[in-house]
Amino acid sequence: MESPVSRNARYDLPIDLQVESRLGDIGRLVSLPSTTFRLLSLLMSETTSARDLQKVVEQDPGLTAKVISLSNSVIYAIRDPVSTIDRAITIIGFKELEIIALGIGLSETFDLKKVPPGFDGRALWLHCLSVSWIARELALVTKAAEPSEAMIAGLLHELGIIILVSKFPIHFIQLLDLINSGQPLQDAETTLNLRHEAIGYQLAKNWGLPQVFQEVILFHHYPHLCPNHAKLASIINLADNLAHRSGYGLTIESSSIDLPKILATLGLKIETLQNLIKNIITAIPKVEPLWNQLLNGTKPVGKTGGKFSSLLK
Ligand SMILES: [Fe+2]
Ligand SMILES: [Fe+2]
Repeated sequence: MESPVSRNARYDLPIDLQVESRLGDIGRLVSLPSTTFRLLSLLMSETTSARDLQKVVEQDPGLTAKVISLSNSVIYAIRDPVSTIDRAITIIGFKELEIIALGIGLSETFDLKKVPPGFDGRALWLHCLSVSWIARELALVTKAAEPSEAMIAGLLHELGIIILVSKFPIHFIQLLDLINSGQPLQDAETTLNLRHEAIGYQLAKNWGLPQVFQEVILFHHYPHLCPNHAKLASIINLADNLAHRSGYGLTIESSSIDLPKILATLGLKIETLQNLIKNIITAIPKVEPLWNQLLNGTKPVGKTGGKFSSLLK
């Protein structure tokens, strides 16, 4: 149950957007490295080529080393070791590498290894990566959004939580205390005026990200209120729910969904969704080792595909 909050003036949404007074200048405190920003621009363009990606990655020695190391990891065991980015693109795949490179950039900007006790930072990244991956599949099937936009929106949808955990640990501990005392995340956030949707929205705005990402971050729990990008917000809402049900959720956040309304918005038949879920169950175990490698080879949290079927009941 939502705590009563005056609806904000700009959007018809029960969230107070004025979180800056609580957190200071979010944009000044949290800047995005130039390579990560360039990767975001590449991802936003449907005409990006493998050569464009190669050029951006090669300009960043740290990123290059990580990508080559990923390509040589046990998952991609091949006879000749990979030593160049263009070979890495061939091995990993262009689209997979795009999101992996962006994931590396973001995970370095927001170090979730040093997080407040009681919170699993790696599970948060796995959640964002899985929502990104599922969102791209949903966009491809429904044609309701650009697949690259869906992928980025999935990766960024919990930007507010990522910032709170990595940059404002004292505020996040206050939030965890309220959650541990029995309050749902949204109520606890409202009590502290730290709604993660509003924090992510403010940062996306300060970074100058396109309005589509600002809105989807803000409305990922209220897709039908999203004024200009309701379809993409619905894709992220559904991908978020599927990720939760497959063991890639966040323990602090529950994922509610109005499935009939989402299906209608996306023009998606239940049979098509069922087929898509089968594909996700088959495909996620193949990409999951790459995500774990990205997150320093740690063991997976999720039980892949374990609970997808419950969505269909
Ligand atoms: Fe969320
Ligand atoms: Fe989420």
